[in-house]
Amino acid sequence: MRVLVTGAAGYIGSHTLRELLDTGHEVVAVDNYSNSDSSNLDALRNAGYSFEFIQADLTYMEDIIDLVDHVRHFDAVVHFAGYKKVEQSVKYPLAYYRNNVISTMNVLDLMNFCSIKNLVFSSSCTVYGQADEMPITEGTPQKKAESPYGSSKQMCETIIGDWAKLNGKNAVILRYFNPAGAHPDNLIGEVTDELSGLVPALVKYAKGEKPDFRVHGGDYFETRDGSPVRDYIHVVDLAKAHIKAMDYAKRENPGLDVFNLGTGQGTTVLEFIQSFKENCLDIDVEIGPRRSGDVMMAYADITKAREVLDWEPIYEITDIVKTAWAWENK
Ligand code: NAD
Ligand code: WQD
Repeated sequence: MRVLVTGAAGYIGSHTLRELLDTGHEVVAVDNYSNSDSSNLDALRNAGYSFEFIQADLTYMEDIIDLVDHVRHFDAVVHFAGYKKVEQSVKYPLAYYRNNVISTMNVLDLMNFCSIKNLVFSSSCTVYGQADEMPITEGTPQKKAESPYGSSKQMCETIIGDWAKLNGKNAVILRYFNPAGAHPDNLIGEVTDELSGLVPALVKYAKGEKPDFRVHGGDYFETRDGSPVRDYIHVVDLAKAHIKAMDYAKRENPGLDVFNLGTGQGTTVLEFIQSFKENCLDIDVEIGPRRSGDVMMAYADITKAREVLDWEPIYEITDIVKTAWAWENK
């Protein structure tokens, strides 16, 4: 297929770009480098991968119009571009709504102009808010999102649903749980200076570039060890799911469909750290207070992705910590 990948220089976009090229697809990659640089794309090119790259800001209609001739009659768009930092979105809600919602609407217009039928969209488990039941299925009722970031993803999902229905398009919405790790051959990974996420905080602390590391809460009495439970999914497994989703859209013409992407396994923060200690470096961590806005537990039911997309995650927590640590030390 001929595929437009937006946000291709970023973390999940670059891994998916690589999987698309590995499976023989032709790709036009777009990014404005607002939360990335060219290093992942350069690394792929230096390793022999070939693709067209266009630097464009998807919130600007002028940039969208410039893309038309590059992607006319393409088969699919995989739309990653957007801002993703939950805490930052609380400080800068308008920037989040503007970037995430307007870029998505512009991408939908572009698909209409260019007669592109299939969309794969990056959504997030944050659309569920504080879910009452575990594991979370695609049918779990969505609560009010906890942040402008989460609201922006809810809005995008609604807009995409209306658009797909009206225009006879296929839209596969993928709700990621906690993506983590880097490519096992260490060619690409996450380029970030952010320190609030579990993996960036842990590896920077282990490397001596962060003075301390705190487990945000050891008093969640309903979890195995008192620390919060999440569903960490290796970025390569996640990337492969996008290929499956795109194939499914083209093959089955499903209209709008939604899938959770996690492993289906909950891991506590302390279990994650223990795996890091055993496989990477023995470190001491402190247990601190809970972080405001955190849910106690979030893990996915991935039955639907398994059955409908024929997708199965293969990487484990040990792979996640090892590849994240190798990438950090590159
Ligand atoms: P990322 O920040 O590494 O990648 C996003 C890319 O989009 C960046 O390279 C950025 O420069 C680009 N971009 C942002 N706004 C743009 C615009 N207006 N025009 C063109 N390019 C633009 O993030 P990621 O982790 O790769 O996430 C990809 C997508 O997945 C995002 O939509 C994010 O919300 C979603 N998501 C991520 C996670 C996660 O934990 N990483 C979890 C759930 C969902
Ligand atoms: C994971 C766990 C922390 C740092 C958010 C979004 C989600 C997705 C990923 C985009 C939590 C704990 C962390 C630290 C800690 N993003 N932690 N000490 O909050 O589960 O998910 O990012 O869509 O949708 O909601 O991810 O990596 O920040 O935290 O104890 O220094 O690690 O409290 O329990 P989170 P995270």
